[in-house]
Amino acid sequence: MKFRTVIEPFRIKSVERIRLTTEEERREFLHRAHYNPFLLHSDQVIIDLLTDSGTSAMSSEQWAGIMRGDESYAGASSWRRMEAAVHDLTGYPYVMPTHQGRAAEHLLYTRIGGKGKYFISNTHFDTTRANIEFSGATAIDCPIPEGRRPELVHPFKGNLDTQQLLTNIEKHGAENMAAVILTVTNNSGGGQPVSMENARAVSAICKKYGILFILDACRIAENAWFIKHREPGFREKTYRAIAQEMFSLADGCIFSAKKDALVNIGGFLALNNLELALQCRSVLIITEGYSTYGGLSGRDMEAIAIGLEEVFDADYLEYRIRSIGYLAEKLQEMGVPIMLPPGGHAVYVDAKAFYPHIPPEEYPGQALVCELYLKGGIRCCEIGSVMFGKYDEAGMLIPAQMELVRLAIPRRVYTQSHMDYVAETFSGLLEGRGAVAGFRITSEPPFLRHFTARFESLAEVCV
Ligand code: F0G
Repeated sequence: MKFRTVIEPFRIKSVERIRLTTEEERREFLHRAHYNPFLLHSDQVIIDLLTDSGTSAMSSEQWAGIMRGDESYAGASSWRRMEAAVHDLTGYPYVMPTHQGRAAEHLLYTRIGGKGKYFISNTHFDTTRANIEFSGATAIDCPIPEGRRPELVHPFKGNLDTQQLLTNIEKHGAENMAAVILTVTNNSGGGQPVSMENARAVSAICKKYGILFILDACRIAENAWFIKHREPGFREKTYRAIAQEMFSLADGCIFSAKKDALVNIGGFLALNNLELALQCRSVLIITEGYSTYGGLSGRDMEAIAIGLEEVFDADYLEYRIRSIGYLAEKLQEMGVPIMLPPGGHAVYVDAKAFYPHIPPEEYPGQALVCELYLKGGIRCCEIGSVMFGKYDEAGMLIPAQMELVRLAIPRRVYTQSHMDYVAETFSGLLEGRGAVAGFRITSEPPFLRHFTARFESLAEVCV
């Protein structure tokens, strides 16, 4: 018998209580959090879709590995296991453990960045951009045009526009290009995959001009699923072999282990080039820890080594991608405008289309994020003008390209009925959506403002 239902390929051994709050309670919690869900307490949340990062449920094998963790300062066996797992997967000889992805970004991008340098990416993730700009360099996003249109169906919307890459190399000079970063999958661009063909083309350009090519590879297993199922010539390859092929095209990678290594903390930088690796390693020892643990405990490294194996399990990846598709299809059937086709770790709702009456200066994504929390206790993240908006010289907002809201699905955490509940919440939001008001920012920090900015509802201002 052939089953249509893709079941969760695991049993639940330990559970975590969810506190079921009322709408009235949530109204108060949200007000106290200044309408920024990052400022809510986790026990005020029913379904937490803020991020898929560091929120995975670990397997019994990983917990067993945690007991085996070797906490020696130097040369721990857990480090050797993690190093071997990373080396085997990526092929890069120089591996540096870090406490998470952005620490790896900081090590590398502050070495190769600086004033007058340029980075080109399909889309820089917010911490990537922040690290690059912090170094004084410029980060330029060059997604393919299809990647900027939420309603358009394209198999590899995460691809980098190679024509734009060439134009930028010509304009700024190859010698001023610090690196090209391919983010797989393209998180800020909607969790969309990158094809092997695109990675090959980017690799060829980088080789020709002598530019460093880095993969931001934290969701590369999910990306491999899309390549296997959508790109000709990959049907017979394993997910792992597909990922290995992509790694072989680049000079190194940044990896936040909080995603596809299925752990709650950790990351690494891995490079081909010894000289660059030595420069990064010196800073690693000053800022993160000795080179055989970075910012990690032995048990963390043990869990990463195991997670990097488990994530390529075919049943797991099938379930993982299907669970995103399941929610996406339900929302689409209801008429909720979502980014198509759904990506690998999240469903992205087009808030501009959901609330066409709210202009970007009044942050339609933030309005949707707040409504989802109020009505369903669902926490999620705005990926639009709150996260990426900038101001011009006159202090006017330069809006982001898209106003998206990300429903990021933690790995192995929620079941199908949780997803049904999320869909039901949306059906409630569809009614009466014309009456929802936008927001104004009342305070914000200079970098990564979405984490701590405070908002005021324009509905309250009008009253
Ligand atoms: N690169 C990408 C593509 C990411 O998605 C993230 C984190 C990082 C780098 C930084 O890694 O968090 O371990 O320091 N993304 C999280 C998210 C925060 O919610 O998407 P980190």
